[in-house]
Amino acid sequence: MKKRPVILDGDPGHDDAIAWVFAQADPQLDIKAVVSVAGNQTIVKTTRNAHRICTLLGIEAPVARGASRPITADPVTAGNWHGESGLDGPPMPEPDRPLCPLPGVELMAKVLRESPEPVMIIATGPLTNVATLLTTYPSLKSKIARISIMGGGVTHGNWKPAAEFNIFEDPEAAWIVFHAGLPLTMCGLDVTEKALITPDDFPRILSVGNQTARIVEGWLQFFYRFPMQLGYSGAPVHDPCAVLIQTHPEIFRTREMYVDIELEGEYTRGATVADFRGYSDMKPNVTVVMDIDREKYIDLLVEALAFYDGREVPVNE
Ligand code: RIB
Ligand code: CA
Repeated sequence: MKKRPVILDGDPGHDDAIAWVFAQADPQLDIKAVVSVAGNQTIVKTTRNAHRICTLLGIEAPVARGASRPITADPVTAGNWHGESGLDGPPMPEPDRPLCPLPGVELMAKVLRESPEPVMIIATGPLTNVATLLTTYPSLKSKIARISIMGGGVTHGNWKPAAEFNIFEDPEAAWIVFHAGLPLTMCGLDVTEKALITPDDFPRILSVGNQTARIVEGWLQFFYRFPMQLGYSGAPVHDPCAVLIQTHPEIFRTREMYVDIELEGEYTRGATVADFRGYSDMKPNVTVVMDIDREKYIDLLVEALAFYDGREVPVNE
């Protein structure tokens, strides 16, 4: 099977980490770089988490530190969801190699320049790095095959009534990405809040019986508690949707829509505003993912975890 080159960009983050579990296990994907961004936690913490996740999973691609703050917005973090470290829960390994010395955007640009074919970017945090790449190196746009994001929501928000966290964190960056004219897939809350993993699923995850499965279950044991307090029936594990829509589109339902980013609204800044009925004369610019087969989602997680059989790395108890 011909592998598709990808760059992973995120703010791990429990669900970013699980997205990367899927990406590393999938034979369709060839991970060329991992870049952190400030979001769920500070850049120092999300970079350390990215580094440790790559060590745990055996992702050998370079890991680089990305943007420490949004382009213009004031940064916010989501310690209530992800804890003080950004990845609270089970012990994790120390990084097994140094960070790539390049700034995150420079590593992304290097990968695009050196790739013989266009590269997909899978972004599961604020879009600061992706937007900076597009504005700094516009000539490299032709080397980007598609941008697949977790972000937004065409019916509601989760950080503000109308805005989802990743978009709200850096709306100016999102505006740049949504106006870049590149193939764009948006996994917003419309689908990701249906990507629920509940305590009833935990025993099946544990039954895979390897270290990675135990750590993923440990992440979920931490990650599901806050949403349960909010009334969710489990953990909305958002970010893997941005990977799986590319590798297993058959478990999703999508719609082509015109979507734009609100930057000015007093109550709506950071909203992804979608033209559901084609009222505007703007042609669709985004593949919006609207639904998921949750049972198949869990099946794919169990299948991905089995990839890590036999892998055991020392962790910091
Ligand atoms: O709103 C959910 C998104 O915000 C996810 O990507 C989560 O990791 C946080 O970054
Ligand atoms: Ca994320």
